[in-house]
Amino acid sequence: MKYMSGKEIRRKYLDFFVKNGHLELPSASLIPKDDPSLLMIGAGMAPFKAYFTGKMKPPCTRITTSQRCVRTGDIENVGHTARHHTFFEMLGNFSFGDYFKYDAIRWAWQFLTEELDLPKDKLWATIYPDDEEAYKIWTTETDINPDHIVKLDDNFWEIGSGPCGPDSEIFIDLGEERGCGSPTCGVGCDCDRFLEIWNLVFTQFDRTEDGKYNPLVHKNIDTGCGLERVASVLQNKPSNFETDLMFPIIEYASKVAGVEYGKNKETDVSLKVIADHARSISFMVMDGILPSNEGRGYVLRRLLRRAVRHARTLGIQEKFLAGAVDVVAEIYSGVYDELTNRKDYIKKVITLEEERFATTLNQGMELLNAEIESLKAENKTVLDGEVGFKLYDTYGFPWELTDEILHENNMTLDKDSFDKAMEQQRTRARNARGENKRMDIPDLRDSNIGELKIDENARQAKIVCIWKNAQITDALKDGDEAGVILDVTPFYAEGGGQEGDIGSLKSDMGSATVIDTKKLPDGTVYNIVHVTEGSLHTGDAVEITVDMTNKLASARNHTATHLLQAALKRVVGDHINQAGSFVNADHLRFDFSSFEPITDEQLAEVEAMVNAEILTGQDVNISFMKQDEAKEMGAMALFGEKYGDIVRVVTVPGFSMELCGGSHVKNVGQIGMFKIVSETGVAAGVRRIEALTGKAAIDYMNNKAKLLSEAVSTLKTNETNLLDKINTVLTENKEMKQELTKVQAARAKADSQKLLMGLEEYNGVNVIVGKVQAATMDELRNSADLICSKYEKAGVVVLGAVIGDKVNFVVKANKDAVARGIHAGKIVKEVAQVAGGNGGGRPDMAQAGAKQAEKLPEAFDKAHQIIQAQIK
Ligand code: ALA
Repeated sequence: MKYMSGKEIRRKYLDFFVKNGHLELPSASLIPKDDPSLLMIGAGMAPFKAYFTGKMKPPCTRITTSQRCVRTGDIENVGHTARHHTFFEMLGNFSFGDYFKYDAIRWAWQFLTEELDLPKDKLWATIYPDDEEAYKIWTTETDINPDHIVKLDDNFWEIGSGPCGPDSEIFIDLGEERGCGSPTCGVGCDCDRFLEIWNLVFTQFDRTEDGKYNPLVHKNIDTGCGLERVASVLQNKPSNFETDLMFPIIEYASKVAGVEYGKNKETDVSLKVIADHARSISFMVMDGILPSNEGRGYVLRRLLRRAVRHARTLGIQEKFLAGAVDVVAEIYSGVYDELTNRKDYIKKVITLEEERFATTLNQGMELLNAEIESLKAENKTVLDGEVGFKLYDTYGFPWELTDEILHENNMTLDKDSFDKAMEQQRTRARNARGENKRMDIPDLRDSNIGELKIDENARQAKIVCIWKNAQITDALKDGDEAGVILDVTPFYAEGGGQEGDIGSLKSDMGSATVIDTKKLPDGTVYNIVHVTEGSLHTGDAVEITVDMTNKLASARNHTATHLLQAALKRVVGDHINQAGSFVNADHLRFDFSSFEPITDEQLAEVEAMVNAEILTGQDVNISFMKQDEAKEMGAMALFGEKYGDIVRVVTVPGFSMELCGGSHVKNVGQIGMFKIVSETGVAAGVRRIEALTGKAAIDYMNNKAKLLSEAVSTLKTNETNLLDKINTVLTENKEMKQELTKVQAARAKADSQKLLMGLEEYNGVNVIVGKVQAATMDELRNSADLICSKYEKAGVVVLGAVIGDKVNFVVKANKDAVARGIHAGKIVKEVAQVAGGNGGGRPDMAQAGAKQAEKLPEAFDKAHQIIQAQIK
């Protein structure tokens, strides 16, 4: 057995299987494509599910990859065992209806013992108890020690729904000294002695969403060999963390922390967690995932924040993750060059999130520590979920993090009450967003749909499947809303950020409006229809109409989005990368990575550049080529783009080239006009441009022009003088306001002087009641304040003013008057009632409104009476 670097092992594996007739493909993105059953790619086979089920044809029946994977199921074990981490690479060889168990087992053995030179006497294999065929192959086709073959019930492999089957796992015995010492320790034990290095899955079933196992037509092979694990063996390291695929990150973190590795179990765990999480988050951001509170973004946020928390326990106070990204990029140089190419972007996204968490981490920890202390004092061990939710919502603590910190103190989080608090917040959010309508899709695997075709020019088709309320059905009647599949369809299905086509279907028996077009994970296109007349049936021949006005409007926006991206790269810089996009017939939206807002000048330049391109009136080319070829020619691929050998390339010669499956105009001139309407920030490091094209852009400009001419006529000027006129009006307005303030102040002074002359005194309480002039409530209150401030002893003031067509009252009493029993709120209530109104307030200050100005004298009389009655 000779030392091999991670890079050498990966290369050797791929070369070995290429030599045996496999096509080598690059690793797919961590973001699953068209597969809602998976959050993230967690196995080498995951991107190939449709090849396994036979829904899609693979470019070759034998494929080999080294697939990047993230799995968080074992996150609690990270750092505590030698072999668990959230990011890993899975080496795999796959057969789609080609070879089966015989070759899979033979080649695995050959690779391990000949290419890697692993000691045969240390290798073990497990098989599914009923799998006689596998047993026979192991014993006759390899020279494994037959005593090293173990039958285990749990040798059956599946992930989510989809292809699965019995498996055979290969282990290496790392020696007693690595074991747990238990007398029952053996293959399958949880300790670190028997290390599983390769799983050969004999994929022969397709598991449905509801748990049924349907036999697959073709038998397949799916294998997964853990690169880090094999490296730990060949590099003779006690754990995966010490291999060249991870250790440089540990070295980096221990240097930043000033903590030596291998000296203390607890600090070692933190260093290992950092090393693992740094790899996961680097790759996740590379693949276009951004931190958020949902789905993949939440996994990213959780891993990143967990790493930061562990760094704190090591004493790292400063930002350190960007430095870790550098180390990760270095480890994978020459393998994942995207990591190096997008390094600045990855570092920025990660640092922003690190900063965001740092600002609340200390506060959150203080709160949590205080809660832990008080639980301890009360001899309790469960933290209320409401507190956990506050930590999540206000301080950004993923609940798992709170739970983990609690665990360190032998406590737990009340997950039920946490979920409840979370659900309440979700409900609030959902209500705010409005109901989200979706069409439930039944399982169509048994429905015998037959071969389906996509043909842009098709105008006639046959209905091959109908479902309503997630049930397959034969007929639809007037008013029904349902899903429909056609044997050949010209409709573009929602995807690649473009809304689905709309249109109509018509048969001899009935008609339906197509209100949307979508596709199933395997690419099957279906329509959502609303039956408007008669009935539709499975088997009916239908005339198809695609709403071409709608389609062309979408195409304008789609092609314009390509032009926009190209122009942004030219004007702002090559670091601009698409982070998401959406087009429909109404508008386009383009999200991209950038850390600064785009300036107004840049936006104007981008817009002008796109419009100039539109004016060239050149044709848009659509071609099909090999993905590598397209990339070499400089085509922009979006992240998450699946591989597969042939790609569709949309080119505007000399300006833009993108891999894209969407609808486009034939000639850029058809876009007509491009108008940016907004530029905003949507997430850390992500900006959004919204824009219009064609008729929408023209309407938008016309509305602006109309607004302008209305402004001109309202201000009684012309366009040339409009700005001067606005400035004049604004200046006049300002001067008048100043003048008004002066006049009001003088008036209040005069009024109060006059009223002070009518001062009365009841039993030692000064009383002023009367009418003043005021234009606003504020002014009225100011007058009351002014009078009140003049009292030298107990005093109350009741003022009334006619403002517009209403009467308003303010009553104000000073402290001494309140002490003598005066209650402004009660006075104003009764006074206002006299004049047909109502009101109330505090003992020292109250106001009210009423309608009958002619009742003011009566109201004032009433005031005198109440005041006298109130004085104690
Ligand atoms: N898909 C199999 C696994 O992940 C090889 O173990």
